[in-house]
Amino acid sequence: FSSAAAHIQRNPAYSVLNSDDVSYFKSILGDSSVVQDQDRVAVANVDWMGKYKGASQLLLLPKSTDEVSKILSYCNSRRLAVVPQGGNTGLVGGSVPVYDEVIISLVGMNKIVNFDNVNGILTCEAGCVLENLSSFVENKGFIMPLDLGAKGSCHIGGNISTNAGGLRFIRYGSLHGSVLGLEVVLANGTVLDMLTTLRKDNTGYDLKHLFIGSEGSLGVVTKVAILTPAKLPSSNVAFLSCNDYISCQKLLLAARRSLGEILSAFEFMDRHCIDLAMKYLEGVHNPLPVSPYNFYVLIETTGSDESYDKAKLEAFLLRSLEDGLVADGVIAQDISQASNFWRIREGISEASVKVGAVYKYDLSIPVEKLYDIVEEMRSRVGDMGEVLGYGHLGDGNLHLNILSAKYSDRMLERIEPFVYEWTSKQRGSISAEHGLGLMKAEKIHYSKSPEAVQLMASIKKLLDPNSILNPYKVLPQSVL
Ligand code: FAD
Ligand code: MLT
Ligand code: ZN
Repeated sequence: FSSAAAHIQRNPAYSVLNSDDVSYFKSILGDSSVVQDQDRVAVANVDWMGKYKGASQLLLLPKSTDEVSKILSYCNSRRLAVVPQGGNTGLVGGSVPVYDEVIISLVGMNKIVNFDNVNGILTCEAGCVLENLSSFVENKGFIMPLDLGAKGSCHIGGNISTNAGGLRFIRYGSLHGSVLGLEVVLANGTVLDMLTTLRKDNTGYDLKHLFIGSEGSLGVVTKVAILTPAKLPSSNVAFLSCNDYISCQKLLLAARRSLGEILSAFEFMDRHCIDLAMKYLEGVHNPLPVSPYNFYVLIETTGSDESYDKAKLEAFLLRSLEDGLVADGVIAQDISQASNFWRIREGISEASVKVGAVYKYDLSIPVEKLYDIVEEMRSRVGDMGEVLGYGHLGDGNLHLNILSAKYSDRMLERIEPFVYEWTSKQRGSISAEHGLGLMKAEKIHYSKSPEAVQLMASIKKLLDPNSILNPYKVLPQSVL
């Protein structure tokens, strides 16, 4: 396991859980929602990558907002630290305890509250799994505004708390745009009802935005109202190869110009990602096997006119081949081909963890410079590991993964602080979409000014004066 927390001491101001605490939780939640079983608690103590591991003794499974409120009110008065947990698919060590924090899992809060068929507004509890919400709204002729590889496990509350980006961002934008309302429980148990479903509401500060992307450090999200776009009848996916990175860039610009309003995804991955996916993912095959290319791009279009949309994509592909931007390409002819294309792209993180140790960086960098750091990193790491570059090129978001059999300080020294300094020099972001969590709490200054960090600390102190919510995460210890 990572030694990410090695430099952080347990804050002695927090109480240690005792049997009276457990009895109290049983009295408010019922015995079955207070989990002390070692095997079940152990699962909740470890993150998806198997990289971060806490030592919590208690997992709580509230079933209502009122129960979350009672838990927090009690923990606040007893000064018991807590970690809110959704699907536990986070990639920065934010969703698991560092020491003995009580885990509050939202898994039992998975009800759909309402769906407004006319305006496409879904209201649901925070523990709903994203894929289940997708199926629900698709049956009604709508889609979720976000999609990501972890859809089968991640919760909408977790998505909101990390401000997840994902595969539809290029078309439907950030959750700051599509989330219309939230219900949040504050550290002292106060229920903050901001669960409006209005598109426009300029009455004072729009407080819900504080909780979008705050990674459980300011409150527990319990309900969500989210705008869902109409499901359009025609969707096409193309899998293309490019010889060099400059061609990928030019292709992005050309796709924006030629495909315009129907462009719904533009994802890229380098050759190393494809090789890894072919090695570790079952049942996938490279649709362009003839010769290995340096880069691969997945383009999706979504529109309302099947023959027009297909013709548009075909013409774009032909032109890109003629102009030499694309070396080869194929358009999926059926759903199984389309899902094979998507499986390759979405499966890169799953394939990565099979190698052993993954040093994962999630950077926003201007597109022109975005691949430079992958090449620099490759020469820094040499034969100590394998470097992958992939991500949401249409959003200027690079995923830089460095893989090796085991975690080692020697490898980490090759990577950090170089990766953060380089990104900071480009005025990029050291977390485009995964958040800071435990991994990058102490690194925030690479992307935020001291004044901004101080203001964040003041907000944290105002909303959570005993600092019980997700300690050691998001903000540096020195400012709290
Ligand atoms: P968790 O992992 O449980 O928690 C994440 C953070 O949110 C933690 O800090 C936790 O304390 C907090 N939290 C969770 N629920 C609540 C709540 N109800 N109230 C307050 N705080 C809460 N991210 C992207 O942005 N784009 C991607 O394309 C993407 N793809 C992924 C693919 C895979 C295979 C995996 C494993 C992860 C991927 N992620 C991606 C990471 C992403 O952050 C998560 O998948 C997702 O948004 C987290 O949701 P979760 O329910 O699993 O939250
Ligand atoms: C992705 O885009 O695949 C994700 O953000 C997950 C990852 O980078 O591992
Ligand atoms: Zn991503």
